[in-house]
This record gives sequence, C-alpha cells and structure tokens, in this order.
Amino acid sequence: MKKISLGLLGAGEVAQLIHLPVLRQLQDRYDVVALYDPSPSVLSKVGMTWNIPRLYGDVEAFLADAGLDAVMILSPDQFHGTHARAALQAGRHVFLEKPACLTIADLDALIAAHRASPLVAMVAYMRCYAPAFTQGQKLLGQMDEIRYARVRDIICEGPWYFQNWSDVATPEDDIPTNILTAGRAARLADLKSVCGDEASPAILKAYEVLTGLGVHSLSALRVLLGAPRRVISAHVARGGLQINALLDHGDFITNYECVIDDVVRFDATIEVMSGREKLDIHYDTPYIRNLPGRTIFQQSTETDNTIQTFGPFYKDPFRVELEHFHDAVTNGIPVQTPLADATADLELCRHIIAAAQRSTP
Ligand SMILES: NC(=O)c1ccc[n+]([C@@H]2O[C@H](COP(=O)([O-])OP(=O)(O)OC[C@H]3O[C@@H](n4cnc5c(N)ncnc54)[C@H](O)[C@@H]3O)[C@@H](O)[C@H]2O)c1
Repeated sequence: MKKISLGLLGAGEVAQLIHLPVLRQLQDRYDVVALYDPSPSVLSKVGMTWNIPRLYGDVEAFLADAGLDAVMILSPDQFHGTHARAALQAGRHVFLEKPACLTIADLDALIAAHRASPLVAMVAYMRCYAPAFTQGQKLLGQMDEIRYARVRDIICEGPWYFQNWSDVATPEDDIPTNILTAGRAARLADLKSVCGDEASPAILKAYEVLTGLGVHSLSALRVLLGAPRRVISAHVARGGLQINALLDHGDFITNYECVIDDVVRFDATIEVMSGREKLDIHYDTPYIRNLPGRTIFQQSTETDNTIQTFGPFYKDPFRVELEHFHDAVTNGIPVQTPLADATADLELCRHIIAAAQRSTP
C-alpha cells in the first residue's frame, strides 16, 4: 500500500488524544514526518512522545517541508481557512478539522483556492464516517416517509473525560504574545462578522458552540436527510450553552437540542421517525478511544413490533475517516465530505443564530 507522508499543523488536544493514536494504528498507510505548533514546549513534548522527526515553530517552513504529501489542519477554527489555503498553495493534500471555517467568506475563499486543484481537500466530519451512521444510512432506505427527526447534543465537554484518564501536553505560557493576540482578535472578528457587532456574549458563545459541537450533528443530519430549508425558530439560553432550534425540511421538521453542562454523559443522538419506523443513531464521546456506537431500528405493524440493535460498533470513526482520506489521496476516490458541502452547515449555524436573535426580547 502506498504510504502518505503526513504533517500535523497544530499539536493540541485533538492531535494528541485522537489523531496521533489513530495514526499509530495506521502505520501501513501514514508516516507522520512533521509537526507544527507555536508552543515550543508542546511541540517538543508531542514530537518526542510520538517520535516525529521534523518539528517546526513556523507555518511557512512547515508547509515548505519537501517531504510532505498531506497536511492535517488541527489549528484553532479561525485559522482553518488561512492554513488550508496555504497548504494547498504549497501543494499538500488537506485533511481539515471541523468546522471547515468560521465564516462563509473564509470558506468561499478556500473553495475557490481548491477549485482548479488536483489535490484532495476533505472536511473531517468524523460522525459521517461512524459505522453507526453508515448503518443508519442503509436502514433509512427501509423507512416510509419521514415525519419527524430529533437531533441531540446534550453533553459534558471533553476535558472531564481526558483530564481524568489521559495526559495532554498544554502550552507553558510560551506561545508568542503576538500570535495569541492575533488569534483572539481574528476569532472575535469572525464571530462578530456572522452575529453582528452588537451581538450579546451569549449569542457569540452560541455560534462557537454551534460551529464547534453542533456542526458535527448538523452535517450528519444534512448527509442523512438533506439540508433543512429554513430555521422556523431558535432559542439561546444559559450564556450560549443551551440552544434549541426547529428546522423545516418541507415534509417534516427536525428538533435540534444542544445543552452543555456538567452531568457526565454524552447524548449525541439522531432519531428519525416515519409513521411506523424509528431509527436511532448513537455516538459516544470522541475523547475516549473506541467507545462503541450503536444503531437501533424499530418497526411496528398493526400486529407486530420489533426492535433491532446494530453494533455495538467498536471501529473508531476517526480511523474510518483517515482510511477514507488515504483512499482519496492514493486511489483518487471522491471525498465523501468535500469543502463545498460545509457551506450549508455554516449557513444553517448562521440562520439558527439569526432566528435566536429575533426571538430574544
Ligand atoms: N473532530 C472532533 O471530534 C474534534 C475534537 C476536538 C477538536 N476538534 C477541532 O480540532 C481543532 C483543534 O482543536 P483542539 O481541541 O486540538 O484545540 P487546542 O487549542 O487544544 O489545540 C490547537 C493547537 O493549535 C496550535 N496553533 C496552531 N496555530 C496557532 C495559532 N496561530 N494561534 C494559536 N494556536 C495555534 C495551538 O498551539 C494548539 O496546540 C479545532 O478546530 C477543533 O474544532 C475536532
């Protein structure tokens, strides 16, 4: 099998807890040859732990590394567009963590930069690669007309899981101040360009939650049932950590619920209902490797009622998406989660925010 020489742009939580362990299992497909991070302490700790030969504190020098075939963009969201464009310009295939970008303008510029390119660019919507999700896609074909969908992201955030069970190297106050200041300013400018200059802190936070967490579910919903036509109504509460939205698909609606709190559970579920069937797709926290997903399918008739459970599926969605990226780069198969499709997800996040702003007294 042809191996891809890979560089990681960003060595934070997702790199350390998720991608590097999965890449170690995929050594038949990938050689991790280079790492960039602006924190010298994180760079050297992660480089040493994972035995990565070339370490960079400068993005341009990293991308100019002649040994790189492909780059994983694992930097903060506000840099995704800039870093992915620079990677494409340097001739590297791009695996881009979600959200693709924070703004549609940034994503449009990235799509334009990729348009004439033979390089692969893939958005890492890992839930779309989860075996529980692909099983759900198959079962959907057995369902009658869809009447209702419920999508939930009711979770305790990642740090509870990994602070208790894993080691993560964090910057020792050593990221250059100009990089930190520019990063905060760029993030705030992006949030305000979407939510408005006068947006409340709760609305700004809600947009971060939607693009950080919600976009996982909203992209999976789009792939499964199509993008909603409009947002009927939305509400933001608890400083932006609670979001509700009613989404109109034409023939049915989706009720989206998002709550981030401190109850330790990860309820990320998509439920789809027809008149006599119900499909449930369950995901677990991504921060503990190989937790199983499952798919439950209920079928009722006038005289009978069955519930089938598929799984538990132990194959890690992050492994599936990296196998897919390898296949796209080495065999030219079309990417299942291309850049252009992410536009609909950012549009939906923006419309949910606009509806919440309209409903706030
Ligand atoms: N697919 C998933 O389930 C999942 C899970 C977690 C995070 N993510 C995504 O991965 C990306 C990284 O998330 P994370 O949790 O690793 O974040 P993090 O803050 O832990 O790590 C980000 C890393 O990028 C580095 N970095 C690179 N360029 C930088 C710059 N210009 N300014 C400041 N820092 C810079 C930081 O030093 C840091 O090490 C985010 O876009 C996030 O949405 C995806």
